[in-house]
Amino acid sequence: MKTSGNTILLSGGGSGIGRELAQRWHDAGNVVIVTGRTLASLEETARGRGNIHPMTLDVTDGDTIRAFAADVLAKFPALNVLVNNAGVMPLEDISVPRDLSRAEACVTTNLLGPIRLTDALIAHLSSQPDAAIVNVSSGLAFVPLVAAAVYSATKAAIHSWTDSLRFALAGTVEVIELAPPAVQTELTPGQSTREGYMPLGDFIDEVMSLFAQVPTPELIGVQRLGFLRNAEAEGRYAQTFATLNAPHA
Ligand SMILES: NC(=O)c1ccc[n+]([C@@H]2O[C@H](COP(=O)([O-])OP(=O)(O)OC[C@H]3O[C@@H](n4cnc5c(N)ncnc54)[C@H](OP(=O)(O)O)[C@@H]3O)[C@@H](O)[C@H]2O)c1
Repeated sequence: MKTSGNTILLSGGGSGIGRELAQRWHDAGNVVIVTGRTLASLEETARGRGNIHPMTLDVTDGDTIRAFAADVLAKFPALNVLVNNAGVMPLEDISVPRDLSRAEACVTTNLLGPIRLTDALIAHLSSQPDAAIVNVSSGLAFVPLVAAAVYSATKAAIHSWTDSLRFALAGTVEVIELAPPAVQTELTPGQSTREGYMPLGDFIDEVMSLFAQVPTPELIGVQRLGFLRNAEAEGRYAQTFATLNAPHA
């Protein structure tokens, strides 16, 4: 993926990792369209940065995504990069019957959202030079957190789907997975100050240095990701699963 001169569509650009990525990419010489459900947050991301363009989009609505894709391509025909970053992380107890609405919204947002948005833009992206798709998964794709079981499953699915997408689009669209470890954002309440989580600025610094590598790594994984990413390969999956889930047992 080029480091400048792109026109990037990024979902979930109104906060956390998405906001930081949008601002860094903007400052590096890219046009960035930021989407999310909350216009005020998107406008805050764009404040003082003329080439960040807010456009609202709820990725849970398939019909809206299709109309949005037509609209964004009419406004930004040079769009060549899609970043599927929007996500939600409900904490839940799966050992008892429960209201499934949050779990279902998690699947619709984290898994169906990227599949639908990519589908709506794939014909266009395939015709663009230097096209790329970046899918944001998670360390929990590799070792699940029981307290966020459905979330972890959506991220494992994103990892799997990204591998397929990369193979299917080889030579046409570059496909990159960005798998954050635990980072200080408000993905879950109070997480932005939770001890032991990676400070957002440090995380983005490391991510941007990985994006600067040529060629771009297929997996953008900061050093801290290794604890989860390499657990199985290093023969310590069961131990890592137990350690990760010990506070929730
Ligand atoms: N922080 C971590 O520890 C961590 C670790 C691994 C992976 N990740 C992943 O990183 C990505 C960004 O998360 P974050 O940590 O930056 O959390 P965040 O600050 O909560 O960002 C999530 C963004 O997604 C947007 N969003 C949620 N539902 C949406 C919907 N239906 N339609 C459109 N946008 C929606 C939110 O904006 P609105 O609510 O305004 O729509 C928000 O800006 C997520 O995919 C998350 O799973 C985060």
